[in-house]
Amino acid sequence: MATPTRTSVSNVLVIGAGGAGLRAAIAAAQAGVQVTVIGKRTRKDAHTVLAAGGINAVLGTVDPEDSWQQHFADTMKEGYFLSDPRTVELMAREAPGAILELEDWNCKFARTPDGRLDQRFFGAHKYRRTCYAGDYTGRAIIEALDAKIESLDIPVIEHQYVSRLLMAEGTCFGAFAFDINSGERTAYCADAVVLATGGHTRIWRKSSSRRDENNGDGMFLALHAGCRLADMELVQFHPTGMVTPEDMAGTLVTEAVRGEGGRLYNSEGHRFMGRYDEERMELSTRDRVALANYTEIAEGRGGPNGGVFLDISHIGKDAILEKLPRMYRQFLEYQMLDISSHPMEVAPTAHYSMGGVVVDPDTHATDVDGLFAAGEVTTGLHGANRLGGNSLAEILVFGKRAGETATALSKTRDVVLRSRKAIAHASDELDSFISHGSEFARPLQRSLRNLMWEHCGVVRDGGGLETGLKKISELSAVLGDVDVRPTSEGYGDLAHVLDLRASLLSGETSLLGALARTETRGAHNRSDYPEVADDPRVNYVMRLDSDGAVNVSELGVQAMPDELVRYVEGTEALGAEGRLLE
Ligand code: FUM
Repeated sequence: MATPTRTSVSNVLVIGAGGAGLRAAIAAAQAGVQVTVIGKRTRKDAHTVLAAGGINAVLGTVDPEDSWQQHFADTMKEGYFLSDPRTVELMAREAPGAILELEDWNCKFARTPDGRLDQRFFGAHKYRRTCYAGDYTGRAIIEALDAKIESLDIPVIEHQYVSRLLMAEGTCFGAFAFDINSGERTAYCADAVVLATGGHTRIWRKSSSRRDENNGDGMFLALHAGCRLADMELVQFHPTGMVTPEDMAGTLVTEAVRGEGGRLYNSEGHRFMGRYDEERMELSTRDRVALANYTEIAEGRGGPNGGVFLDISHIGKDAILEKLPRMYRQFLEYQMLDISSHPMEVAPTAHYSMGGVVVDPDTHATDVDGLFAAGEVTTGLHGANRLGGNSLAEILVFGKRAGETATALSKTRDVVLRSRKAIAHASDELDSFISHGSEFARPLQRSLRNLMWEHCGVVRDGGGLETGLKKISELSAVLGDVDVRPTSEGYGDLAHVLDLRASLLSGETSLLGALARTETRGAHNRSDYPEVADDPRVNYVMRLDSDGAVNVSELGVQAMPDELVRYVEGTEALGAEGRLLE
């Protein structure tokens, strides 16, 4: 007998209960349609809560000479001119409004002594424009968004694992999901769907994401629905992750530590950033600081646990407790280390997916009718090196836009599309995974994370990437032999094998993109191609062909508008279309 499936119908379905998803849902509800949010984790525990150091917006509260055009310029430049200029412009223009709105919704941002929103320095920004709430900014934002969601009576359904987007006649009409605890299946049908499922950086061995999040599931869903992905090789390694204890390795040590004056030393006691970026030192771009840390460690100047040392003790315990309370507790809790008197040992960690689903900058519509996307699952804003603090701005600005355009589409629909065949197919697919096998998902996930770290890490080369692809295909070959059985603990096995399926595909797309990109640019370091290839600048676009293989092609980067070119420093070196000249 077929496994029973409930049906839930809304105007707009939002998949993902992090910042982008919640902001999209608020926009939809405020525009008067019925919206449902589904998330994998417990409410208010989406990955956004881990975002620490801050959110960028040009408010000029501490540096009045700042401008949105300068924010545009910093983002384009630090993204090595691979970002989509329109996306960057929208973010820079609309982030201030997004922050003020959050302030209105009682988000507990830090304030200057005279009561204005405080702004701190983050790496590679010309001015201070990063608003913050201690070092738990993401949590403060989620609290404020969730309170708004509650006031609008928007249902947020927890522990829903989406296995497929539902498609009929080329249109996305919802998502098929099961409850990770009870196994109950639901076909969530809607006029329009917003995908806000985060990135894929948990598939690297050292990652600032927790278990069972950021496994690339959104990228898998989008690719299989017919969307394009781009630049999956562009993964940001944050320079500073914890190195011990083993099961916490990779956990974020916020850039706010360096923003508040933290200094990096090697095991010889040398403050080494002077060798890599004499001017900006520890507040250089993330790619440079990550590569500097990587190099110091690789060349034997690391500490006993394979990291370099980050010291903030000179600002004193009171300042640390005020500005970096989470960091203080994190080191005390996991290492019994008092950072007001000892340095932290840190190393690069996979932190952010700059590639993802291709969307229209203004509407955040994907290539698929009825499907929109926002947040880390998308690409376009960050280029080859994300400016710290831009991701929280992104989720608010584009979450809102995606929610509004999904709503506008919903209002044009006369009926909610439904295909019983597509729903039955998704349910049968889940059944096919529930079987006894000789492999287990967790060790296979570990093998994948190891291979991504080894072959597609901070520094890559062609031979290693080819080896990585071979190992991925070996792991993919045993996917059908993974033991999946519901237990009294729930349907975790099923979620793990589906995560593995998604991670293998997103890992493959990253390796393929990294092989195609025969240059070194931003976070993508090819030891066999150490130069930046300025002409042409391209995004690597991927789609699934009819037999399910990933097809990679090049797409030229859009030119910057003439009126904004001059804001990019060194504009004498830029042509009218914003292309770098020889
Ligand atoms: O270091 C951090 O607090 C990270 C911020 C970001 O990735 O934007």
